[in-house]
Amino acid sequence: MNGATPLIEVRNLQKFFGPASRPVRAVDDVSFEIHSGETLGLVGESGSGKSTIGRALLRLVESTAGSVKYRGEDLGSASDSRMRFLRSKLQIIFQDPYASLNPKMRIRDVLAEALATHGLAQGKGESEARIAELLQRVGLRAEHASRYPHEFSGGQRQRIGVARALAVAPEFIVADEPLSALDVSIQAQVVNLLCDLREQFKLTMLFISHDLDVVEYLCDRVVVLYLGRVMEVAPTEALFAKPLHPYTQALLAASPKPDPELALVHVPLMGDMPSPLNPPSGCGFRTRCPQAISACAEQRPMLEESSPGRWTACIRKELFT
Ligand SMILES: Nc1ncnc2c1ncn2[C@@H]1O[C@H](COP(=O)(O)OP(=O)(O)OP(=O)(O)O)[C@@H](O)[C@H]1O
Ligand SMILES: [Mg+2]
Repeated sequence: MNGATPLIEVRNLQKFFGPASRPVRAVDDVSFEIHSGETLGLVGESGSGKSTIGRALLRLVESTAGSVKYRGEDLGSASDSRMRFLRSKLQIIFQDPYASLNPKMRIRDVLAEALATHGLAQGKGESEARIAELLQRVGLRAEHASRYPHEFSGGQRQRIGVARALAVAPEFIVADEPLSALDVSIQAQVVNLLCDLREQFKLTMLFISHDLDVVEYLCDRVVVLYLGRVMEVAPTEALFAKPLHPYTQALLAASPKPDPELALVHVPLMGDMPSPLNPPSGCGFRTRCPQAISACAEQRPMLEESSPGRWTACIRKELFT
C-alpha cells in the first residue's frame, strides 16, 4: 500500500435502518480505502449492503456511525455549502438510468442543470458547447440534447447518466450496478466507455456489481461484502486466482460462469442470506459456511492481513495456506 492519503477513506461505517430497538443492520462496521486513480470493486449477494455503502460515501444517506473521508476531510462534519461543493467531486451513476432521469426534462436541461448547480458554464453559449461536448464524449450526438429520456434506448440512457455524472468534472464516481439494466450486447459498450473515461479524466471509482467477470476486468482491487460486513479485500488478480475466504470461494463458485477449477474445489453458495434484522452471532457467514466450527459463533472475526495486501475476516487461518 502506498503512503499517500487515500482519496476515499471509510472507517467503521455503520448504517442501520428502522427503529433502534429493531434495526436492519444494512452496513455493520465496514472499513476500506480507495486510492487515487484506483477502481475498487464491491461485490456480494443482493441485500449485502453495497448500494447503502455507495450512497453513504456520497452522504446520500446519513450513516449511523463511522466516518467517510475525502482527501482526508470528514464528509460527516462538512457544512451544507461545503457539501454542495464536494458533490461536484463525488458523483454516482445508478443502475436504472430511467428512474434517475426526470422524464419531463430534455437532456439539454438535465445537463444544463448539473452545470449550473456547480457554476461550471457561464451563459447559454458556453453551456450549449459543454453539453454538445459531453454528449460526444459518451458516444451520443449533440442533437440528442433536445430529446426526452423516453426517446432513448437503455444503453443510451445509461450514457446520459454517465454524461450527467461527468458534467461536473468529478474525481470520484460510484457506479452502482451501471450495467445490470442493460442488454448483454450493450453492456460491453458501456464497460468500454467507462474504461475510456476513467483514463481520460483520471477517475477514481467504486464499482458495484453482481457480475464477477466485469469486476475482474475493470477493478484493481475488490471488497467482498456479506450481510453488511467485509469478508475479504484483495487485489483483483489474486482474488480470482485464489479466493481465500470461504464466502468468496462460494461466491466465485456460484457465479453463472464459474472458473471450472474453482467450481470443482469449492462448494457453491447454498440457501439464503440470513436477515440483517437478525444476523448470526460471531461470523455472519457461519450459518452457510462449509468450514464453520463452533468457535465461529462466539466472536466476530476481525479483518486481518493474511498475506501482503490480502485481508480476510475468518478465524480459520489454517485454511489459507
Ligand atoms: N431505505 C431503507 N429502509 C430500510 N431498509 C433498507 C433501506 N435501504 C436498504 N435497506 C436494507 O438494507 C440492506 C442492504 O440493502 P442494499 O440496497 O444496500 O443492498 P445491495 O447489496 O445494494 O443489494 P442489491 O444487490 O439487491 O442492489 C437490505 O436488507 C435492505 O432491505
Ligand atoms: Mg444495490
